[in-house]
Amino acid sequence: MDHFLYRDGALHAEDVPLTEIARGVGTPVYVYSAATLLRHYNLFDEALAWGPHLVCYAVKAASNVAILKLLGDAGAGMDVVSEGEYRRARAAGVPGDRIVFSGVGKTEGEMRYVLQNGIRQINLESEPEMRLLSKVATELGVEVPVTVRVNPDVDAKTHEKIATGKSDNKFGIPISRAREVYAEIATLPGLRVVGIDVHIGSQLTDLEPFRAAYRKVADLTGVLRADGHEITRLDLGGGLGIPYARSNLAPPVPMEYGTVIQEEVGHLGCEIEIEPGRLIAGNAGILLTSTIFVKEGEGRDFLIVDAAMNDLIRPAMYGAHHDIVPVVEPAPGVETRAFDIVGPICETGDTFAKGRDMPPVGPHDLIAFRSAGAYGAAMSSEYNSRPLIPEVLVQGDQYAVIRPRPTYEEMISRDSVPHWLE
Ligand code: LLP
Repeated sequence: MDHFLYRDGALHAEDVPLTEIARGVGTPVYVYSAATLLRHYNLFDEALAWGPHLVCYAVKAASNVAILKLLGDAGAGMDVVSEGEYRRARAAGVPGDRIVFSGVGKTEGEMRYVLQNGIRQINLESEPEMRLLSKVATELGVEVPVTVRVNPDVDAKTHEKIATGKSDNKFGIPISRAREVYAEIATLPGLRVVGIDVHIGSQLTDLEPFRAAYRKVADLTGVLRADGHEITRLDLGGGLGIPYARSNLAPPVPMEYGTVIQEEVGHLGCEIEIEPGRLIAGNAGILLTSTIFVKEGEGRDFLIVDAAMNDLIRPAMYGAHHDIVPVVEPAPGVETRAFDIVGPICETGDTFAKGRDMPPVGPHDLIAFRSAGAYGAAMSSEYNSRPLIPEVLVQGDQYAVIRPRPTYEEMISRDSVPHWLE
């Protein structure tokens, strides 16, 4: 459930009509609902209430500092994958001891920065990485809590670009080699084993792959404990999917996911960490856009909107579906017409939807792309020299611009011409 509903004939974000935001900020613009973000965070928190746990929001999904502050103030931890994300979380006031650091390619500089500024745990993904971290920690005279991300070789049954738990993915250490890797860590100064980490993919709509992976983690916990390692935390990753098309069957909800976790690893007495991103932010954000032209083509009609693939790349990159709805509520039973909904970028891939049925719509009408809160703004670029679009946070009847639209001058002035060309 989210807080983007039609009221008095217009789509609202909580108590604010999207027409008002479009008037005040212009389009295209990302709009987030604070109530929805908090609701989703709380669902995970409640789903794990049976034991000690920390919900570490995956910052990569939507990384605006205002969103991180909202969630952090509610008690969330953060899962970060770069120094940039770490700095954002800290700028949002999240203490280091609530931040976990994931990723296959942490650099020495990044390690140094987080160790100096405070980190809850580092999730290691390879032997070269653990040796480097040991060196950095020893130089700084600290002992850093670590887990090893194991690759359980489980098929997450999701889009191949976002599956991470098969043995041919670049992530983690094969679970079959976990014992020898943990044995080596035990000999390395500066590292303190606290647990095991796993993440098998994103947009999972079936709980069975989670169950299979977590069962393997439970077995491994027993084996590693018998080897003498202290396993007190399990980081079980993110990945629970969301309903992108309202017409489809809804994926499992956090409470069902929490039950699977309890069934598979609840008996181990570990503190549970999870790293959800999409489920917290996805349906808490929309991309608000305006139509520029209605173009009648041969055999198909095009709705050309002012958002483009640089603003929301998911349809172009993964063939992802987003529900697309008019902001003015269509009259019941109104006749629809099929459109290809496209942006202004000079690539055929700049297509958001093909043959999508829409109620009557003309130039300058407002349209909302639903479920755009996760991996929307966070993956945007300035391709075609289109400045990054603004972000707005709504809470109740108030809204604030949480990232302004840059001017063209700001965008262009970041470039510089070398002296020999002057
Ligand atoms: N933890 C780790 C280690 C991850 O790699 C990810 C996502 C998450 C947590 C959060 O997963 P979530 O709960 O959001 O599914 N850009 C793609 C999604 C990439 C996901 C990458 N890793 C998309 O737009 O669908």
